[in-house]
Amino acid sequence: MTETSALTGQAYIVTGGSKGFGYAIADSLLACGAKVGLLARGQQGLDDAAKKLSEQHPHENIFTQRCDVANSDDIRQAFANTKQQFGRLNGLINNAGLARPGSVETLREDEVILQMNTNFLGTVLCSQAAIPLLRGEDNPRIINISSASAWHYNEMLHLSIYASVKAAVERFTRDLRLECQEDNIGVTCIRPGAAWTEFAEGWDSERLTAGVEAWAKRFGTVSDSGMDVSHVAESICYALSYPPGVAVDLLEVRPNSIASKEAW
Ligand SMILES: NC(=O)c1ccc[n+]([C@@H]2O[C@H](COP(=O)([O-])OP(=O)(O)OC[C@H]3O[C@@H](n4cnc5c(N)ncnc54)[C@H](OP(=O)(O)O)[C@@H]3O)[C@@H](O)[C@H]2O)c1
Repeated sequence: MTETSALTGQAYIVTGGSKGFGYAIADSLLACGAKVGLLARGQQGLDDAAKKLSEQHPHENIFTQRCDVANSDDIRQAFANTKQQFGRLNGLINNAGLARPGSVETLREDEVILQMNTNFLGTVLCSQAAIPLLRGEDNPRIINISSASAWHYNEMLHLSIYASVKAAVERFTRDLRLECQEDNIGVTCIRPGAAWTEFAEGWDSERLTAGVEAWAKRFGTVSDSGMDVSHVAESICYALSYPPGVAVDLLEVRPNSIASKEAW
């Protein structure tokens, strides 16, 4: 039977760990007795996250380091420091990601590149850096966070680049799984639906409205509602807890309630 107590004493890196899904994943891992290295670009966000997590979990199980997942020097340093801090590294959760709404015609080149670099290049570079550090460790795992929009084309409109890049993450995860089998590193893709986070904070409101209007016109005025990030975090702990030799391949977790698109 899968027991999350199997995570006690294990050490994991969570990219994008200062907010949203990443924070919830760290919280769940720490609650299972694991040690967590939180990585993100913003130092303030990391400090705030570490302070809040320390109120409920042993502070010695929490490590933070600034790291842009699109920068291989940052990654190398942060991953090596995390492993040194805990004396082990049992897994990587490739969670850092972002989106920029906009119709295909209006998206700027820098917005396209930012989404590709953060979601796809970041997943590739972090996986590359993790493999040698995970090799030979106890029950090593890599988990890549996709999005329901990679598969369900009615999730939202005007997020074409984000959805396509997450589809690329899923395809990449397939080959990563095959290549990592030789080293007994389990590879999992988690595909969440909409959840309540700060994901859309800072989005251009006019472009968001245009996307929601196009979405409602095409697919009707109701959609899946959002879910609490803790449900996805728990599913990740579960996937990490399988015994060596077994891995969750792909898991889709989506809200099972509906809401008006006017709420967006
Ligand atoms: N929210 C949803 O409805 C939803 C649904 C499906 C999938 N997802 C996926 O879930 C993941 C987390 O999303 P979220 O909703 O939790 O977003 P969020 O609340 O905006 O948090 C994003 C996190 O990623 C970090 N980050 C962004 N760019 C980074 C970079 N280049 N390098 C390192 N860290 C970076 C952010 O910190 P800094 O800005 O300080 O770097 C932050 O910690 C993403 O992969 C997203 O695509 C989200």
